[in-house]
Amino acid sequence: MGMDEFELELLLDHYKDPRNFGHLNDPDVVREEGNPSCGDQIRMEFKLRGDVIEDVRFTGKGCAISQAAASMLTEELKGKPLAEVRGWGKREMLDILGIEVNPMRLKCALLALKVTKGALFGETDWPNGDEAELAS
Ligand code: FES
Repeated sequence: MGMDEFELELLLDHYKDPRNFGHLNDPDVVREEGNPSCGDQIRMEFKLRGDVIEDVRFTGKGCAISQAAASMLTEELKGKPLAEVRGWGKREMLDILGIEVNPMRLKCALLALKVTKGALFGETDWPNGDEAELAS
């Protein structure tokens, strides 16, 4: 199995069996947003301990990339300092996803990170938003 095939299998596994899916009992921050291009939704819930993400859950509905990206992102977010996550953008999210996506699917890949940065930092732009790239 080639590397790309492995990454694709992993992505589909996260889609079919999402990690950290559901709700926290007593979240500190909650945010839900959709991708205006398609209407797909992601809701992220966070429990913070000081400046660290102690726990995170998500729910959502949408395409395989958006839901797998959310699942994979939650695994990376647990235990991370807020200051580190604040610096994450498109490159970091695609590294977490493990595959490159074509421009039509970029918002799918970035939606969970957008919701996360909106929840934690009040950022409302697409991460590393390049208007031309994100125009679709
Ligand atoms: Fe809607 Fe991917 S098609 S987020």
